[in-house]
Amino acid sequence: MDAVKKVVIPVAGWGTRSLPASKNIPKEMLPIYNKPVIQYVVEEAQRSGIEDVIFVTNRDKSVIEDHFDYNLQLEGVLERAGKLDKLKLIREVAEMVNIMSVRQKKQLGLGHAVLCARDLVGNSPFAIMVGDDLMFGGVPGIKQLMDVAVAENMSVVGVMEVPADKVDKYGIIDGDEISPGVYRVNNLVEKPERSKAPSRLAIVGRYVLKPEIFDFLKQVKPGHGGEIQLTDALQGMATSQGMLAVRMSGMRFDAGDWAEYLTANIYFGLQEESLRYELLDKLKNFVQFK
Ligand code: G1P
Repeated sequence: MDAVKKVVIPVAGWGTRSLPASKNIPKEMLPIYNKPVIQYVVEEAQRSGIEDVIFVTNRDKSVIEDHFDYNLQLEGVLERAGKLDKLKLIREVAEMVNIMSVRQKKQLGLGHAVLCARDLVGNSPFAIMVGDDLMFGGVPGIKQLMDVAVAENMSVVGVMEVPADKVDKYGIIDGDEISPGVYRVNNLVEKPERSKAPSRLAIVGRYVLKPEIFDFLKQVKPGHGGEIQLTDALQGMATSQGMLAVRMSGMRFDAGDWAEYLTANIYFGLQEESLRYELLDKLKNFVQFK
């Protein structure tokens, strides 16, 4: 498989899990420490060698594209005030990747969102990153999949083991481990009932796919929740041309889950030398550390 240079990041969801914070701000723009959630995702893409980011948006999400563009007025203010470190910070965000976007005019599901990006993706292998899933530590998340996809010339989905009581929140795979942490995918099922899950290996919002996925997406009927599910198209593709799953390493935060969102904030606060001790000190006032 050729090197992967494009990523599709669907950002058209309502973000109901993040209400009321996301009432008028896209959930992808909520900050974790000093950056919006979406910036961590785009940084992971950039560190993995991705050059083009395709956002699948809706009418309320243009602020996401703006975040990755220059803000000349603000740059002028910072320059005149001599705040050159801040100037550098905001310019760097605009220079990370090329940004493209396409509207998902009806919210018919994740599979439908990806299908909207078809013309912008063209006929090359591409990545998909779900904007709520943040991955940290070691080799950048999507790079872990790209390495296997390119070496094996196969489509690859990223998985992690989740507790048995969480399998109904994810796409779950049934696979055979063919080398440590790499599985041949036999079946995939979107949000199975707990008693029917084929395993605890959950798809974690990272995919590297061949462009034929669009042919499968065009054919899938509404599935779980009445939506066009990416997982259902993946099933067709796995059956007809094979697919691998890679058990991803590193930490994952689901930014749409409040406990994980808040943990991520504290985690990144603690990484910052100038904040660490004050933050720990304040936390000690109301947390009993063992
Ligand atoms: C989507 C996919 C699901 C996957 C999950 C990862 O679900 O449909 O297969 O496990 O992302 O975050 P969503 O969270 O959009 O309901």
